Parts: sequence; structure tokens; C-alpha cells
Amino acid sequence: MVAVFRLHNGAIRAVSAVCPHAGGPIADGLIDDDVVICPLHQHIFDLATGCSKTGQPPLRVYDVRVDDDGDLIVHTGALEAR
Ligand code: FES
Repeated sequence: MVAVFRLHNGAIRAVSAVCPHAGGPIADGLIDDDVVICPLHQHIFDLATGCSKTGQPPLRVYDVRVDDDGDLIVHTGALEAR
């Protein structure tokens, strides 16, 4: 599962949707232009790197873009593993 956010500055970020602390729903977290705060216990993760600012394991970060047709493209890396 992937959580995708459009930031106030228009940038798009995609990170793993399950919080590594205790499985919280990252997609329901509060964001600013740099971080997401998990709604369950308020651990904080950098949206660009996935790194926790509060001592937790990192979120996975995915490359994401909007193509010329306006479709959201998230690169999960799954095809590279085949
Ligand atoms: S489950 Fe996300 S901070 Fe605890």
C-alpha cells in the first residue's frame, strides 16, 4: 500500500502507507511541505527521504509523477525485481 500526498507547494510525494511503529494509517496523517505525522502516536517522517525524525524505522519512499495525461504514476520498483 502506498500513501500519496500533494503538498501545499504542488509537489507530490509517495511513501509506504503502513507506519513502521505499530501499523498506523500514514495516508490519514497530517502533513506540511516536509513531513507526515502518523495519526496514531504522532511519530514524524520526512516525506522526501522516509526517515523518521522521532526514532522509528523509515517509511519506504516511491518515485511519483503526473504524466502528460494527468495520470499519477508511482514507481514501486516491482517490475525491476522480475
Ligand atoms: S502507529 Fe504510527 S506512530 Fe504509532
